[in-house]
Amino acid sequence: MLQDHLISAAHLSRDDIEAVLDHAAAIDADPEVVRGRHDGRVLALCFFEPSTRTKMSFETAMKRLGGETIDMGSVESSSVKKGESLADTVRVIEGYADAMVLRHPSEGSAKLASEFVDVPLVNAGDGAGQHPSQTLLDLYTIRENAGLDDITVGIMGDLKYGRTVHSLAHALTNFDVRQHFVSPESLRLPRNVRYDLHEAGAQVREHTDLDEVLPDLDVLYVTRIQRERFPEEREYRAVAGEYRIDNEVLTDARDDLTVMHPLPRVDEIAPEVDETARAKYFDQAHNGVPVRMALLDSLLGGDR
Ligand code: NCD
Repeated sequence: MLQDHLISAAHLSRDDIEAVLDHAAAIDADPEVVRGRHDGRVLALCFFEPSTRTKMSFETAMKRLGGETIDMGSVESSSVKKGESLADTVRVIEGYADAMVLRHPSEGSAKLASEFVDVPLVNAGDGAGQHPSQTLLDLYTIRENAGLDDITVGIMGDLKYGRTVHSLAHALTNFDVRQHFVSPESLRLPRNVRYDLHEAGAQVREHTDLDEVLPDLDVLYVTRIQRERFPEEREYRAVAGEYRIDNEVLTDARDDLTVMHPLPRVDEIAPEVDETARAKYFDQAHNGVPVRMALLDSLLGGDR
């Protein structure tokens, strides 16, 4: 069981992952198994960047466990605006809560913050770094639809700045998964992630053209170009609108292809795909609740 901070998917073993996914599946089948288990406990939501799904699904998850949430609110309305450091902010909030969820624009911020607090801290996105709780719900969705062994996964879009991609790629090395990365040359996986995958013995290939791998894929994980992370708007515009899928692009895909996306989408997936059996991205978002219930239950000590 996970009992500490969750900062990077690189720290997750296969056993850790399977324990959370199995617990999430049990909760999904019968939410009564954890009802009221964390009565009166408090989860602090500290979001220094926009969020809809991650924040609301953590909030729903905590409430369904019987707990409560407190919210730092927007950066504009918090003491951060007065120049408070991240370390001070989390040290203060720790005194109000039993666990914390942190999203912050700087890579490495969750690791730094975790060094100042004793309550479990979940990294809900640190700049272009990691987003490991998203990965747990991504894995849950992959397992439900394609299984997690002997599968071929394509990950497409902004592989450079996409933190959900970095976390997912790390986590998939625990399973028998062939990983194909599809992106423009300028948005390839960062060198450090490629290095880690290589060290983990992952089966990885990189492409600029989806057609090269599409027919082999069990899962296609599409991502948004992370406009807010580009140093120059001009660089964003040079790649925006590439790597878009619609039903025609998917003509050569397997009928049982699972199409995923962490959301929000901009224009990477044409709405016509939503109507097909391949589209799993809304189920994926909904899986955030049982998976985060299982994660929080584990971090808060479960029924120990
Ligand atoms: C992702 C994120 O914040 O990294 N969103 C999410 O949590 N589902 C993906 C994105 O913003 O593109």
